[in-house]
Amino acid sequence: MSTVKITKEAFGSTSAGDEVDKYTLTNNAGVSVEIINFGGTIVSIHAPDKNGVTDDVISGYDNVAGYENNPPYFGALIGRVANRICRGKFTLNGKEHQLAINNSPNHLHGGPQGYNMQLWNASVEGSKLILHLTDPDGRENYTGTVQVTVTYELTEDSALSIHYQAKTDQATPLNLTNHTYFNLGGKASPNIYDHLISIAADRYTPKDETCIPTGELAPVDNTPFDLRTPVLLKNRIPLVTEGPPGFDHNFCLNGEGLRCIARVEHAASGRVMEVLTDQPGVQLYTGNFLDGVRGKSGACYQQHHSLALETQVYPDAINQPQFPDCVLKPGEVYDTTTVYKFSCS
Ligand code: GLA
Repeated sequence: MSTVKITKEAFGSTSAGDEVDKYTLTNNAGVSVEIINFGGTIVSIHAPDKNGVTDDVISGYDNVAGYENNPPYFGALIGRVANRICRGKFTLNGKEHQLAINNSPNHLHGGPQGYNMQLWNASVEGSKLILHLTDPDGRENYTGTVQVTVTYELTEDSALSIHYQAKTDQATPLNLTNHTYFNLGGKASPNIYDHLISIAADRYTPKDETCIPTGELAPVDNTPFDLRTPVLLKNRIPLVTEGPPGFDHNFCLNGEGLRCIARVEHAASGRVMEVLTDQPGVQLYTGNFLDGVRGKSGACYQQHHSLALETQVYPDAINQPQFPDCVLKPGEVYDTTTVYKFSCS
């Protein structure tokens, strides 16, 4: 029986007048995670540093209005299809789909009414926060009604696990992720330059100027994308200059099954985050487009303030048959888990 507690309180209401609740998951190790049912969004993660001082290590806003206008997708659940679909087009079972172009010239993160903009039904079962969404046939021009359940659970060893399950009544691409941005230095830490990162990936997916993969699975050897041994981001970000400096790339993860795929460490605070997933890919995004976004308690998030590790199937997989399959069919169960585990060095 878990000793992790979950409490519930009001967080405000949407512009449409729907009430939003905030759930707080707290363990005995000093970690607490706040999640709202709007977008299934993680709004704070407090974790202790090496001296036992707890601080918020993620970016976000103070209120629902912030999350209703959230171009960086801070903290949110992302679907029906995370990442980009080339020009918003795909063909499945002979039917052509044209999706919204919300990241010109491509479709990004499920479109303007993606899962980050939906009010999820929430329930608590012991130490689990269970969120449910019915994503109807035709929303954002996707085919099929998808029933999605996302279960958040915090453990006493400070692992926040996100378990995604879904079923559909018609074949559909599906790629779910969470878009939390981390800065392990806490609220006052201005950027991620002093974060040490490693990602267990021998290959990555190079992309064109619109961020769509070229289709190649390129070896990381002798490139800035070789993160197999830890690197300080301040030494690597300036070497990745295809767009604004920094990473916004999918890494093809080594191995299979639930495994540790990335580690982030902030030496000054001693905070460490390990990422485990059973997914084939992860998007490392170093906040390249943050440009003074106003956030929690008057924060102003500048470029490279925080980083996201978005576990996923590779971007544009629906149009790239050599990539891992992203189609969910009737009768199948989509089932995937990602874990963010916090500790101190
Ligand atoms: C993803 C994308 C980025 C950016 C962010 C949101 O990580 O890959 O290019 O669009 O979402 O700002």
